[in-house]
Amino acid sequence: TNLTIIDPAGTRHILDADPSLSLMEAIRDSGIDGIVAECGGTAACATCHVMLAEDLGLEPASEHETGMLDFAAVAPKPGSRLSCQIRVAHLPEGAEITLPETQF
Ligand code: FES
Repeated sequence: TNLTIIDPAGTRHILDADPSLSLMEAIRDSGIDGIVAECGGTAACATCHVMLAEDLGLEPASEHETGMLDFAAVAPKPGSRLSCQIRVAHLPEGAEITLPETQF
């Protein structure tokens, strides 16, 4: 799946993401800066915060995910998600993912 990742410095990267991965894994493994993912993907750290467009047709965030986002370093916006809770396979081709300024 081709995704556009906008890193914390504002640089746009085109990423051909493996649909079998979570969005967190795909960005982290690509070497693009901006994902920390301290907990390794168990929705327990909020250092994999990403901002998505709101109209991507994803399942809404669980209550647990929404609660964790309140601990993100940059205050969550309406399209904020934990990227470890999103499967690349559920994202549309060409989706834009913005990484916050910081994860700490
Ligand atoms: Fe820790 Fe996503 S990697 S909440």
